[in-house]
Amino acid sequence: MSFETLELTREGAIATLTLNRPKALNSLNARMIQELGECLGSIREDSSIRCLLVTGAGKAFVAGADIKEMDERDPATGKQMAEDGQRVFQILEELPFATIAVVNGFALGGGLELALACDFILASKTAKMGTPEVTLGLICGYGGTQRLTRAVGPKLARMITLTGDIYTAEQMEKWGVVAMTFDSSNLLEEAKKIANNISQRSPKAIKLTKQAISRGVEQTLAEGLKLEAELFRQAFVSEDKREGIRAFIEKRAPHFTGR
Ligand code: HXC
Repeated sequence: MSFETLELTREGAIATLTLNRPKALNSLNARMIQELGECLGSIREDSSIRCLLVTGAGKAFVAGADIKEMDERDPATGKQMAEDGQRVFQILEELPFATIAVVNGFALGGGLELALACDFILASKTAKMGTPEVTLGLICGYGGTQRLTRAVGPKLARMITLTGDIYTAEQMEKWGVVAMTFDSSNLLEEAKKIANNISQRSPKAIKLTKQAISRGVEQTLAEGLKLEAELFRQAFVSEDKREGIRAFIEKRAPHFTGR
């Protein structure tokens, strides 16, 4: 598949999706949202992918929604814009394999919201992140008020969104938004090492773990524990479980199929 605003590349089981509008700091215009939806929809069923890296071309990850495009929208098409992006980010969040946001530079507004829809965020030490929507008279519309709150709790989410300030990756790491930071020259290489590590794990177990966390976080602890036990049962009947346990006993590396 070829796209105007994205690039999708493959190295074995690792796919890399690069947001590619560097002149506009990869800001998310309608075309990019549409292409993101097509791209994610097309890889969703690809069982040969074990991990997806999401990153940006040039000096930015994504500097937010395209502000110039928003100038032309009315309230109805503005709401539509939020819903379109939310639907696409939901596809990203629900992918059955691991997804890592590799934040190489500015991740602002919709850019941070995109990163938050990935399983976790790795960032360059020089990356800058935040939700400047309030500086434009806007609020987050691609899930930021919801996912940031779930990530760091309401107090910190309020501070980040109400200030609209741009924070360092180091600060975001302390707050738990970013899992790890690396020197910018090593970021992609380190992210690929982590992706490669995840690629050796059972795809079935990865898929079930993702479901347990994303569905469980919406439930009470008692409901979440029930869900976990049921998904544990599903892991228990899998070929991957049989293979993983046999491989341990036979002192060899497992060969997982995802079944
Ligand atoms: C459109 C953008 C853009 C954006 C940057 N550009 N961000 N265009 N939308 N979000 C364009 C600039 O206009 C400029 O184009 C080029 O990219 C380079 O940007 P500069 O500003 O010259 O770069 P720099 O001085 O390094 O400043 C970087 C920056 C600044 C701090 C990231 O660009 C910035 O503040 N951008 C806006 C960030 C923001 O507010 N994002 C939140 C958007 S609202 P030209 O043609 O002039 O060279 C949002 C809502 C999401 O995300 C929810 C929607 C439903």
